[in-house]
Amino acid sequence: MAELPGVGLITGAGSGIGQATALAFVRAGCTRLSLADLNAQGLENTRHQIAEISSEAQINLAAGDVTSVEFVDRLVDATVAQFGRLDYAVNAAGIIGPWANSQELKLEDADRVMDVNYRGTFLCARAEVRAMLKNEPTGPDDIPGQRGAIVHIASGLAFVGRQGAPAYCASKGAVVQLARADALDYSKDGIRINCVCPGLTETPLGTNNNDPATLKALEPVLALHPLGRWGKPREIADAAVFLCSMRASFIQGHALAVDGGHLAA
Ligand SMILES: NC(=O)c1ccc[n+]([C@@H]2O[C@H](COP(=O)([O-])OP(=O)(O)OC[C@H]3O[C@@H](n4cnc5c(N)ncnc54)[C@H](O)[C@@H]3O)[C@@H](O)[C@H]2O)c1
Repeated sequence: MAELPGVGLITGAGSGIGQATALAFVRAGCTRLSLADLNAQGLENTRHQIAEISSEAQINLAAGDVTSVEFVDRLVDATVAQFGRLDYAVNAAGIIGPWANSQELKLEDADRVMDVNYRGTFLCARAEVRAMLKNEPTGPDDIPGQRGAIVHIASGLAFVGRQGAPAYCASKGAVVQLARADALDYSKDGIRINCVCPGLTETPLGTNNNDPATLKALEPVLALHPLGRWGKPREIADAAVFLCSMRASFIQGHALAVDGGHLAA
């Protein structure tokens, strides 16, 4: 039996952690998948990589902005129209914004970080829950069935601060609290909502496209990761697969650090 036999939706699927999650979903047996991102070219690249893993996967690509109510509602409606239901969602779309303290950060940049990271996740979660509420609960005979599972890709910076990232830290704290509150509201409906909180991860966002100055500036942060290295996107993706699967059937409202020990230090 596939780990993820149902229908999935992943945002931010054109790059980094979202893209790795799309590939991990297909490896876990999810063959009906909606992928969303601002970057249409990135989505095509993900589709191409999926085709190398599975010839059976049916992929719906949606290029658009998760801060738009219309885009998000259309994305979820199109997923249900094409595949009949929605079982798992991973909300990975996110931005870090310019590095600046609160005095220097432009208000429009701070607002955009909150809009993409918090508002975008909120809009996706509420549309995803709306679709999942229509499912009949399913699962193994000895465990109460679930209607759906949602994972937000938050950050260790929901729990510890980072210089020069006030809006980003605030937005990720908001995402974790959103997941906790939604978990309380939708437990009775059999919908699980959790977060994965990555540490430094080798993606265009994490490394600023391998910019040497960024990598140098992050050396002290890397030193706070006891495993002493950057995470790979697929190591974050595997945690998202786990939390969506029935192996995590009793995990609810949790923020799982996948960070080489950063938060333990
Ligand atoms: N890389 C890290 O070190 C790290 C650490 C902790 C948390 N995270 C979080 O992981 C998530 C994924 O980031 P990543 O590192 O893979 O970055 P990434 O830049 O490689 O991927 C993010 C994707 O989100 C998309 N996106 C951005 N704004 C969007 C919008 N408004 N609508 C739709 N799509 C949008 C981008 O086009 C991009 O494809 C983010 O939420 C990020 O905050 C990353």
